Amino acid sequence: MPNFKVLMKVLVSELATFERAQRVVEPDLVMDRQEQVDAYSQAGAKGGTMASLNLFHSAQIAEVIRPGDTVVDLACGSANQLAQVAQLNPDSRFLGVDLSPHMLDRARQFVAEKGLSNCEFRLASITDLEFLKDRSVDVVMSTMALHHLPDTASLQQCFREARRILKPDGGVYFSDLGHFRAEKSIEYASRQYADQQPEVFTIDYLNSLRAAFSLQDFRDAAQVFGEQVSVLSTFLVRYMIVVKSAARRPPDQALGSALDALRQGLPDGHRADLKDLILFFRLGGLATPYFG
Ligand SMILES: C[S@@+](CC[C@H](N)C(=O)[O-])C[C@H]1O[C@@H](n2cnc3c(N)ncnc32)[C@H](O)[C@@H]1O
Repeated sequence: MPNFKVLMKVLVSELATFERAQRVVEPDLVMDRQEQVDAYSQAGAKGGTMASLNLFHSAQIAEVIRPGDTVVDLACGSANQLAQVAQLNPDSRFLGVDLSPHMLDRARQFVAEKGLSNCEFRLASITDLEFLKDRSVDVVMSTMALHHLPDTASLQQCFREARRILKPDGGVYFSDLGHFRAEKSIEYASRQYADQQPEVFTIDYLNSLRAAFSLQDFRDAAQVFGEQVSVLSTFLVRYMIVVKSAARRPPDQALGSALDALRQGLPDGHRADLKDLILFFRLGGLATPYFG
């Protein structure tokens, strides 16, 4: 996932362009084709091309979740991210929500293989969480998924629903791709790992970058949380965006050791990507807990 070389290439192409690429809605809003499910869960698995990014999110989320919390993951997909967070936070309960039956089948299978008993799943839209009561949830998270919503009205509706179900002292962590101005930037970013992943994943990633919302779209939608959250992005290039509430938990040594062991287990190149991502977010104003 985003590394120094690609971020630099994208930076140059964004600065050199007069283009203002319009957002293009995802051709597959819900990811229910079996080949997509396979490619996505493979990318999120150990050593896969999403592994460094998943670990970055896990470290960020670790600051927001307290033991005993109920956590809802919006558009959880095949649950690679959710399972890692659930494993690191065994005393919390997790509910993954997605509109794809095939993704949820894979998610259930994945958490069962990992022996996790603190995860449940629900087929539903992240813009309509009527099965969850007002102020019933401690944390709402979502990673790499909000660009699957058709428009900014849906993004705002999703954030309103998150706000509604959150307890007053609850926390949020949302992260997604940001919108580039130049098609060339999208090409660079989407092809970074083209030789290490199935073509269907590269195409999905290209479509995701085209469908990404802008930083301003996130700022507008996040207004529903008031002062409770910050909206930040990678430095200069809006490659990744994070909407995060203030830390709800002091640093935890056991959690730090577990995260570090996962970092050590990444292939060298992906460990370097993680370092670059941490740096670009730090320069953009978002510190990463636990990774120094
Ligand atoms: C790229 S995957 C992200 C999965 C996961 N969050 C992760 O970080 O690996 C996006 C997911 O959003 C789901 N999705 C799209 N629109 C949705 C909606 N309106 N409600 C629930 N899920 C939705 C898709 O089915 C897909 O599983």
